[in-house]
Amino acid sequence: MILIDGKKEAKELREDLKTEVSELKKKYNKVPGLSVILIGDMAPSQIYVRNKEKAANEVGLKSEVIKYPDTVEEKTVLEKIEELNNDITVSGILVQLPLPKHIDKQKVIEKISPSKDVDGLHPMNVGNLSSGYQGSIPCTPLGCYLLIKKIDSNLKGKKAVMVGRSNLNGKAMAQLLLQEDCTVTITHSKTKDLKSECLQADIVVAAVGIPELIKGDWIKQNAIVIDVGINKTENGLVGDVDFDEVLKVAKALTPVPGGVGPMTIACLLKNTIECFKRSN
Ligand code: GUN
Repeated sequence: MILIDGKKEAKELREDLKTEVSELKKKYNKVPGLSVILIGDMAPSQIYVRNKEKAANEVGLKSEVIKYPDTVEEKTVLEKIEELNNDITVSGILVQLPLPKHIDKQKVIEKISPSKDVDGLHPMNVGNLSSGYQGSIPCTPLGCYLLIKKIDSNLKGKKAVMVGRSNLNGKAMAQLLLQEDCTVTITHSKTKDLKSECLQADIVVAAVGIPELIKGDWIKQNAIVIDVGINKTENGLVGDVDFDEVLKVAKALTPVPGGVGPMTIACLLKNTIECFKRSN
């Protein structure tokens, strides 16, 4: 049984990225820049953004956080994105989600230049990923993918089950695993027998936001289980996977916290560097 250490993997990735940034600095005499837009004062978003900024500085990126109150007009945000699109010192733009209700998420995402879309959420990048073309890949699926590949470098023919179909996670993860020649199933809240779908999987990626949904008897012996969930409960933070039960059957499992989360942030930095390289 392998307890996947996301903190350690992310640290190694950040160290590689730090080296890469210093090489880019020598070559181009400038460093990649990441601009994050944060709207409102939701605690989880504030924490994510603070961690993103800290990690960006640590690897030597130029980073800035642009904060707006949750009453900000949509127009102000769109104009800011336009300004960042045209700013040659900005390599990557991320608008932290969720957004206040009066702001149209689709409009905001589509305003970001696809070449600076470090979240990989712009329809152009979604299309690139599903076509197998070059482009930004959403940070969390990319992080999960790197963790899975560390456990098993040959995924050909493996059966992979996504639990959850969000743009940010399930759908993008499915595309990445399909490119690795997995047979991929995307399940969701209307799936008839979720347990029996999971039981067939060599790889399960859970991203539904339901605390400890995935039980030990849902998992095949020696499966790889990746838990993207972060749910606040009376007993503290838990994932979408029943950790103690699944630990007994899986070949490898990510803990919550300390699994996927740190990799997401490291992959954001990786995506920012990739955007910089493609634009130079
Ligand atoms: N909120 C939670 N996760 C994410 C993410 O990966 N990107 C953005 N932009 N917002 C998020």
